[in-house]
Order: sequence, then C-alpha cells, then structure tokens
Amino acid sequence: MATTVLVGAQWGDEGKGKIIDVLTEQADVVVRYQGGNNAGHTVEVGNEKYVLHLVPSGILYPGKLNVIGNGVVVDPLALLEEINHLQARGIAINGNLLVSDRANLVLPYHRLLDALREEQKGKGKIGTTKRGIGPAYSDKVGRTGIRVVDLLSPASFSEKLRRKVRETNEIARTFGAKPLSFAKINAEYLAAAKKLRRHIADTVTLLNRYERDGRQILLEGAQGTLLDIDFGTYPFVTSSNTTAGGACAGSGIPPHRIGRVVGVMKAYTTRVGEGPFPTELLDASGAMLRETGKEFGATTGRPRRCGWFDAVATRFSVMLNGIDELAVTKMDVLDTLPKIKVCVAYKLDGKLVETVPADVDALLHCKPVYQEFDGWQTSTKLVRNFDDLPKKARLYLNKLAQLSGTKLGIVSVGPRRAETIFL
Ligand code: GDP
Ligand code: IMO
Ligand code: MG
Repeated sequence: MATTVLVGAQWGDEGKGKIIDVLTEQADVVVRYQGGNNAGHTVEVGNEKYVLHLVPSGILYPGKLNVIGNGVVVDPLALLEEINHLQARGIAINGNLLVSDRANLVLPYHRLLDALREEQKGKGKIGTTKRGIGPAYSDKVGRTGIRVVDLLSPASFSEKLRRKVRETNEIARTFGAKPLSFAKINAEYLAAAKKLRRHIADTVTLLNRYERDGRQILLEGAQGTLLDIDFGTYPFVTSSNTTAGGACAGSGIPPHRIGRVVGVMKAYTTRVGEGPFPTELLDASGAMLRETGKEFGATTGRPRRCGWFDAVATRFSVMLNGIDELAVTKMDVLDTLPKIKVCVAYKLDGKLVETVPADVDALLHCKPVYQEFDGWQTSTKLVRNFDDLPKKARLYLNKLAQLSGTKLGIVSVGPRRAETIFL
C-alpha cells in the first residue's frame, strides 16, 4: 500500500471511519490531518460500536501507531475524555497515540465565540457543531492561537491564555454573554496538559522518518469535500481543507510522497447543518433514507438531511482530490427501493450546469437533472464479491463511478468490517 489519503467526497459522514478501519489492517500508521472533535467517525467491530472524534479510526487495531497531525485543532479536555472512554471499553491507549506539538488548541473561548456567532447569524446560521472549530482555526490563521507545544510550558501557556480570555470577555460583554473565568480554565487545562504530556511529540519528523523507512501510512480526512473551506459551499462549510491537499499541510508529509487517494461516498447523499443541497428529498423518500440508513449525526445527534446521489458534486470531488479509487458505502440502504435517482447535472435558469458553482445562491437555485435506475430489490448485506451483487446493483455502482470520473475500489454493504467488498 502506498501512502494513502482517504477523503470524504460529499458533505461528511460518508462512512470514512468504517473504511479507515478496514484499510488499517494493511497500514502501520493512521494520521488525522484536519478538523477537530466536530468529526464523528463510527467504527463497528463485532457487536461493539465506537464513535471517534479526535482519535484516528485506526485505534481499534492493536499494534498500529495513531497520530493526531499538526493540521488538527485539539480540544485537550475532549481528547482526554475520548481516551478515557476508549480505555474504559478495553482499548489500549499508550504509546500508540501521538499528538503533534504543532497542532492548535481549541479552548473554551472558541466554543463561546462559535455559539455567539451562530446566535448572531440567526436564520443565516451555518449550523455548526458548536465545538469551537471556526474560531480556533481563525486564531491559528490570525497568529493568535495557542498550540499543543505551549502545554509543555505552563508559565507561557497561562500568559497567552490570560490575554485571550481577556479579549474574549470583551466580546462576551458586548453580546451580553457570561464572561469566562481565567483561573478556572487555567487550572483545568494545566491539569489536562500533565495528563496529555506523554502523547505530545514532533510527529512531523517522525512521520517523515517512517515514510522513508517504508512504513505504510494512511491519512484520515474528516468532514467532506463540499465542506472544504476553499472548495465547499462557502460559507456553509467547516474551517479547514478537508481535501487531499490538506493532508500534506496537516501532517507534514510532502505531496510527492502521496501515492494513492481514496474517496468515500455514500450511494446517496446526506448533509448535516445548513446550506445548499440540490438533491435533498423533503418527502417520504428522504425520510425512508434517514430511517433505513440511521442518518442521525454521530457528534450532535441531529437528523441528517437526505437526498439522491449527486454526481455533479462527486465529479467535482474526484477532480479536486485526484481520487484514484472510490469506496461506495451504504449500498444496503437502497436494497428495497424500486427506483433510484442520480443527479447527472444541474439546471439553472434553463441552462445546464455540470460543475459546482462558487456562488452559494446560484447553487441554491440549481435544480437537479435526474437519471432514473431500477432498484435491485434484493438484500446485498451478505454479498462479499462484486460479481455476486445483483446485476442492477452492479450497473448502478458502475454508473456512479463513471459519472464521478474514476474507478470503484470498495463497496460497503453494512457498517461492520466483514460487510465489505473489495474489487
Ligand atoms: P464518517 O463521519 O464518514 O466516519 O461517517 P459516520 O460514522 O458519521 O456515519 C456513517 C454511518 O454509517 C455510521 O453509523 C456507520 O456505522 C454507518 N455505515 C458505514 N458504512 C455502512 C454501510 O455500508 N451500510 C450501512 N448500513 N451503514 C454503514
Ligand atoms: P465527519 O468527519 C458532517 C458540518 C456542520 C456544519 C458545518 C460547520 O464526521 O464527516 P463546524 O462545527 O465544523 O464549524 O460546522 O460543517 N460538519 C459536519 N458534517 N460530518 C462532519 O464530520 C462534520 N463536521 C462539521 O454540521 O454544517
Ligand atoms: Mg461523521
């Protein structure tokens, strides 16, 4: 396996956690490269279900190294809680989890600002996860962030924190919100720093050494391509580069060392939060996808908006990420449907649109042009070879790959490890 980047090719929740877990068998190291605990990556092993937020989805395989890369924004308390939760469930976490000393921190004032900004936006809100992600990345780019490495120097950490809390409390007062207590946050986070210390490392140098030594590295993206800060449906996006390019900046691995890009997409489409979604189904078909696909947010529990597969969006994703191979998940969710639609283009003011427009208002007015397929109406859950899938299911999958402009690599027919077809 070459150094592999795995990205979400839609609006997040494509089943990245499951596919990472499956691919981890062949990897030595799994690296999260962006996002924070806004992510919720589900992995089912046997009868156990785990939802990972900051910890890479490779953690369930013993003997693998898991790295939280420099591009991730890390909430130290959320990370400790996740580590404790996994340990309580019998997952070993010791030297197998490292956090980059260059990663930026998410602190309570980021969560406060996230909530305040959403409240101020009213109807125009983004529908964020309220984990403080946007404000944390704003501080990083604005060069006022506090980083993981600062946790190792308590005096300097406290000084930086004092300044940021003071600044945030000015804003809080303006908007009538309760001010934060520096003393409380300082004590809590210095205590967390002590517990996290053993996981903090120069992961950039380490990953490059591993890569040169021929170890297999798997880079795990969070969110999805249409939520990318540059290429997504701005401003209804997250605050990082979710696309394959982000994997280099977020891990320190140079671009020419990346050998393969895997794009994960559902056999239909979902989205959580606000923003345009051309193929959204607001009728019984949407409700059916939500119920059958158990489409409720892994982080916030919010019901996911559901719709047909959007090949305009996935074509855009394949182009942007250079996706070599598709992993199509949740095929089993479509098993009972007599007819299935796929959006092959948009129509805007009578004209055909074949790529995702930059203008979010234009996208809002795009109407999907559908091609209809016959459903296979047979269970695919027990199928393990592509050739054993019903003919109509194979036709559908081949069409998704063709319309997206790349080839099929994996088909997932259930949440568990075994429920996977490799091509
Ligand atoms: P991620 O954020 O991309 O990792 O995806 P989530 O974990 O948020 O959401 C995907 C959901 O679909 C999880 O509940 C998975 O257990 C589940 N899942 C993944 N692949 C399949 C599949 O092929 N079939 C079914 N029925 N569920 C799946
Ligand atoms: P995974 O990794 C789906 C969405 C939020 C909101 C927007 C901005 O599990 O696929 P943020 O809190 O990041 O500022 O919210 O992005 N969002 C996700 N949607 N899956 C995710 O992660 C998401 N992470 C953020 O719902 O619309
Ligand atoms: Mg998710």
